Amino acid sequence: MHRNQNSSDPQPIIIVGIGETADIAHEYFSVDEQYDVVAFSVSAEYKKTDTYQNKPLIALENLSDVFPSDQYKVFVALSSGRLNRDRQSMYDQIKQQGYSCVSYISPRAFVWRTASIGENCFIFENVTIQHGVSIGNNVTVWSNSCIAHQSEVGDHVFIAPGCMICGYAKIGSFCFIGANTVFADHATIGDNSFVGMGSVISKTIASHAFVRPAKPFVVPFDRHFLEDRS
Ligand SMILES: CC(C)(COP(=O)(O)OP(=O)(O)OC[C@H]1O[C@@H](n2cnc3c(N)ncnc32)[C@H](O)[C@@H]1OP(=O)(O)O)[C@@H](O)C(=O)NCCC(=O)NCCS
Repeated sequence: MHRNQNSSDPQPIIIVGIGETADIAHEYFSVDEQYDVVAFSVSAEYKKTDTYQNKPLIALENLSDVFPSDQYKVFVALSSGRLNRDRQSMYDQIKQQGYSCVSYISPRAFVWRTASIGENCFIFENVTIQHGVSIGNNVTVWSNSCIAHQSEVGDHVFIAPGCMICGYAKIGSFCFIGANTVFADHATIGDNSFVGMGSVISKTIASHAFVRPAKPFVVPFDRHFLEDRS
């Protein structure tokens, strides 16, 4: 999936969600001329009002009656809760209702032509995705991350800002990769893993891992450093 597909009219879309992620997605999609956000949707149990961001808020259960799936596409805007399962279950529900999902790729991201990106992905500004990279469905890549050549990212993954994923690395499905994490080239982590911020993954880590980042080494501040040494 690439930006700048040939289409003259903006694609009408519905954003699923009314939280922080939906607010961010609404802002980004709204300034992108490719899309027209026409409504929001949430499960009936969370629908307390009729509008959100001055747009209709429709119960998910009635969505296809108001916005048929052959005319409207959807973006599921949920964060990484329960290792991305909140977003995955909503994505599955939307797919079962027959909708296609759009992916947002920032015009300020760099995506090489041979990379593939699935649907319902959100690629923020200053992300670099290099030659031969494969990214599954329902993946979020936050700003300033680099996914280097021939790396693979599974489905329902969340990559926080500033990650450096070196060439041929593999990230399994449902993973959360904390901010500023580094994967060495060919490093691998299995499905359902949580990687704390600032981690360095140099080899193979099996699935269902919790990678705990190193704690900062804190010592009392030495007032000597405040003295005038000129
Ligand atoms: C690792 C991190 C989650 C917690 O760091 P911490 O507070 O220094 O680490 P702690 O060892 O005290 O663990 C705290 C929590 O981690 C989780 N945790 C720790 N070990 C775990 C394990 N083996 N399995 C699952 N969860 C575990 C638990 O939720 C724990 O909370 P609890 O104490 O209530 O059980 C956090 O530092 C981190 O990396 N967060 C990601 C930040 C980020 O990248 N955000 C991106 C925003 S876009």
